[in-house]
Amino acid sequence: MRHALKYFGLVAALYALPALGAEAINPEATTGRGALIGGVTKSYMVAAATSYAADAGASIIKAGGNAVDAAVAVELVLSMTEPQSSGVGGGGFMLLWDRNARQMKMYDGREKAPAAAGEKRFLKPDGAVMGRIEAIVGGKSVGVPGVMRMLELAHSKHGKLPWARLFEPAIKIAEEGFPIGERLSALLARDQYLPLWEPTKSFFYTADGKAKAPGTLLKNPEFAVVLRRMAAEGTKALYTGAIAADVVHTVTTASRNASDMTVADMAAYEAKEREPICGKYRDKKVCTISPPSSGGISVLQTLGMLERFDLASMGPESVTAYNAIAEAGRLALADRAMYVADPDFFPVPVQDLIAAHYIAQRSTLIDPKARMKTAPAGELTVKKAMTLFAAESPEIPATTHFSIVDKQGNAVAMTATIESGFGSKLMSNGFMLNNELTDFSYDDVAQGRTVANRVQGSKRPRSAMSPTLIFDKDGKLEIVIGSPGGPAIPAYVAKTIVALVDWKLTPAEAVGTANIVTSGDTLNLEEGTFLEKQAPAFKALGHSVRVDQSGSGLHAIRIMPGGTLMGGADPRREGAVKGE
Ligand code: DON
Repeated sequence: MRHALKYFGLVAALYALPALGAEAINPEATTGRGALIGGVTKSYMVAAATSYAADAGASIIKAGGNAVDAAVAVELVLSMTEPQSSGVGGGGFMLLWDRNARQMKMYDGREKAPAAAGEKRFLKPDGAVMGRIEAIVGGKSVGVPGVMRMLELAHSKHGKLPWARLFEPAIKIAEEGFPIGERLSALLARDQYLPLWEPTKSFFYTADGKAKAPGTLLKNPEFAVVLRRMAAEGTKALYTGAIAADVVHTVTTASRNASDMTVADMAAYEAKEREPICGKYRDKKVCTISPPSSGGISVLQTLGMLERFDLASMGPESVTAYNAIAEAGRLALADRAMYVADPDFFPVPVQDLIAAHYIAQRSTLIDPKARMKTAPAGELTVKKAMTLFAAESPEIPATTHFSIVDKQGNAVAMTATIESGFGSKLMSNGFMLNNELTDFSYDDVAQGRTVANRVQGSKRPRSAMSPTLIFDKDGKLEIVIGSPGGPAIPAYVAKTIVALVDWKLTPAEAVGTANIVTSGDTLNLEEGTFLEKQAPAFKALGHSVRVDQSGSGLHAIRIMPGGTLMGGADPRREGAVKGE
């Protein structure tokens, strides 16, 4: 540990903690930020958005499991303990470092549109696009869930412990319950739709209609049945038969936006193995996920555009550094809107978008001392077929990221989601159903051109999720990271990588650095950070600014040169870092 502190040149009181992962300090749901959350371990580590999930993952590794085994247990527990964010009714992406094979694997468990879904899904009869909430709530936004098929695929290739063993922590919580946290209770109190219908009304609210209070024991016997069946039969118990039929019944008979999903859509879902993508930042190799997520491309572009700036000497409270980061993020978002969609439907020019010469040319548009008047997409040959569509970022924080390093040095970076807070607001069999299909462009045509990310039958909606693994100059795994945040995900992840690599902060400090994100023409500065005080300086650079809370949920692990693991959980959530 002394070595770790020396390496960073920091005296972080936070790390004057026992080698076992530190307990989380829950953030205040109303303030958005709490104290830094970190931990140091020697052998293995799990950083996740709830302490129950981090504990579950750590217990699986302690019992002899590897990082993939732990990921299954973590996601199942998150499904219950962070039901607003991810779960069995949603999707996700996994990036895996298999240390022995020295191989990186990407697994795609992104939801798919029903086969019958058409391009006008989110248009009203008069051709106008539906409002965001109008489209989200109800059946039509629900994609065929993918996360469990993905975990099963990854486990079949890499798992060590028996599949059924990985369900034990979740089954225990489902049957015995867990005390609702401050954050979940606060989000329930704010939700306008869950109290309107069953089963969410009885499940999350008291008889007099109040959100269940923090500390209330929440059991989920219906979900326990799903878990026991999946443990015994595999994911076919979820994707076929009675449970699948209930999911389909729930979405097709929803009182709002009845869906066209069928049991055949459920049965046909397949997770995919895809090629990860890599680039460089300073002396590191940065590897992340490819489409249907745009996030990896954006992270590599953002870091690549920043490389020519001396961010290290500017430091973590520099308006110039933060302006450069925000402007690089703006350019990356423009390319995302133009060029990224499901690669099974559209020839995403991935290699062109991450080519070093292209990124260097894009970087010349950035003036760290001013705001670009416009941040257009780059000119690539496939452009003639498409046009832009800018998606709005969700209001309520959802989605989750967890990072795992096991005893053998394998690592998982996994981001999972049901899209916006509590997804479509529909529940089946004790789990929430996603609203991932609103990650498609609502418009199929804009300015007379086809939109790459339009709705099509059996297509995966574009994502921004960005699970990322970073290797040092000798090829050794060094950083495992990712975040929720919708279109802001790559901005959160890239800035935190800058904080780790350039500013040499510990993971706990790095995930706590101020967030800056562009949304349309507005620059969002995180409330309660140095950025708030610097709002006039950003205005002077030409930005239209908004000071607001930030919805990241960064969970990062750094492997120190001597092998010590340092972890950080986002102080904006209730996460934890666990391990030994
Ligand atoms: O796949 C995506 O990019 C989005 N559905 C993620 C949504 C999200 O992160 C919401 N969180 N704050």
